[in-house]
Amino acid sequence: MGQKLLPVGEYVDHLKSFEREPITRDRVLEFCLETAVDPGTLDRYLHFRDDMYTRNLIFRDEALELMAVCWKPGQRTVIHTHNGQLGWMAVQQGHLAVVNYKYLGCNAADNQNVAGLDCLAGATELDIDRREVQECYPGGAVNTVDKVQTIHQVVVQGREPVVSLHIYSRPIDSCVAFDLEQRRCYRRELSYYSKYGDVVVREGDLAPASAASPMPAARPPR
Ligand SMILES: [Fe+2]
Repeated sequence: MGQKLLPVGEYVDHLKSFEREPITRDRVLEFCLETAVDPGTLDRYLHFRDDMYTRNLIFRDEALELMAVCWKPGQRTVIHTHNGQLGWMAVQQGHLAVVNYKYLGCNAADNQNVAGLDCLAGATELDIDRREVQECYPGGAVNTVDKVQTIHQVVVQGREPVVSLHIYSRPIDSCVAFDLEQRRCYRRELSYYSKYGDVVVREGDLAPASAASPMPAARPPR
């Protein structure tokens, strides 16, 4: 059965209706499986770059955030956490693979004892285990993160540009990233390339492109 298409404004209105009751993974997941955004209403949020994928904010309040992420072939995230938040990722166009990881231990576990964050990070020895890979494409699986599965890496598959919609509850502005080669982790700031249709990153704020760090490295716009 095909998905119902909604203009992005109506999609956001529907998301906001989830705030009247506790937001659960399964309530939003059901909506994401049944519904997609009418692609013609997303144009102003789509910005593709050769040097990085872009995070484009569509809606944000205290409880929920919706963004469109635009990826070119070859782009990927670093391995990162989601701070214990709930997240749903639906691919609108193209093909993504999500590689899940499980935390097994590190030499700075006490840094997890911090209020309001999952961890201060800063380990110099760590053990995380690569687990299953989930393939995501339009009309197929919707990837989720939750309090149990919070570490993953997202990798573009194929030669087609990708547009994915990301819903998060609650919104966060930083996460822990992992460097498996050096077996260390660190906190990194998250920033938007555009907000509500307007590009907010200045070219001078962007770090030089690096194959090892293809995430946007701009200072977070406030
Ligand atoms: Fe993620």
